[in-house]
Amino acid sequence: MQLKDNGLRFSPVTVALHWVVAFALLGIFGLQLAIGHASGEALRTELGRVQNLLGLILFLVSIYRFWARITAYHPLPVGTPNPIEVIISRSVAVALALAMVLLPVAVWASRAAAGEGVELPGGWSIPTVLPVNAVLKEVVDVLFNIGASAFLAGLALHVFGAVKNHFLLKNDTLKRMLGKHVEL
Ligand code: HEM
Repeated sequence: MQLKDNGLRFSPVTVALHWVVAFALLGIFGLQLAIGHASGEALRTELGRVQNLLGLILFLVSIYRFWARITAYHPLPVGTPNPIEVIISRSVAVALALAMVLLPVAVWASRAAAGEGVELPGGWSIPTVLPVNAVLKEVVDVLFNIGASAFLAGLALHVFGAVKNHFLLKNDTLKRMLGKHVEL
């Protein structure tokens, strides 16, 4: 099996992990909505633990993914896009992968600085090694908000690019990311 991307195609690992990350993120957003609407404290806490577990999975997968992205060739684009668009779309993709490593760290650091642990289902928790410090929490929260806003803007651009390629340009960019073999 092809383990890493090359100039001609994405590896099946990249394709699978891309969608693991996308669905984990969707799960985190969905759980946030559910937590907002949950009736009791116990349910809210349990949903929060599942959300933390998804965040941990996202973080671990993304460490590999970011490393794999910057150490392998990105396959040639499908069709003949403008080179500026290619540079922008690839830079956005790398930034998205990096954000999925940094944002979970910021969540963990913010909670640690507030003296809260990151609890997981089954009574597990992620250790807090940072000191309780209100100023540190404030700084981390500001950085998180800036990073999260930039991430959401990048994600919107990324999904817009995928939709544009699929429906407007009618090429195989999205299908290739869904595992279709595309001859270049
Ligand atoms: C509905 C959601 C999404 C769609 C439709 C989508 C679509 C795509 C497509 C079509 C490509 C291939 C681009 C190419 O041929 O160069 C791609 C690549 C990529 N996407 Fe997404 N994407 C989505 C969500 C995400 C999310 C949530 C992230 C990260 C947080 C992400 C990060 C990446 C990265 C890093 C690449 C480069 C390939 C890799 O290393 O995985 N995408 N995406």
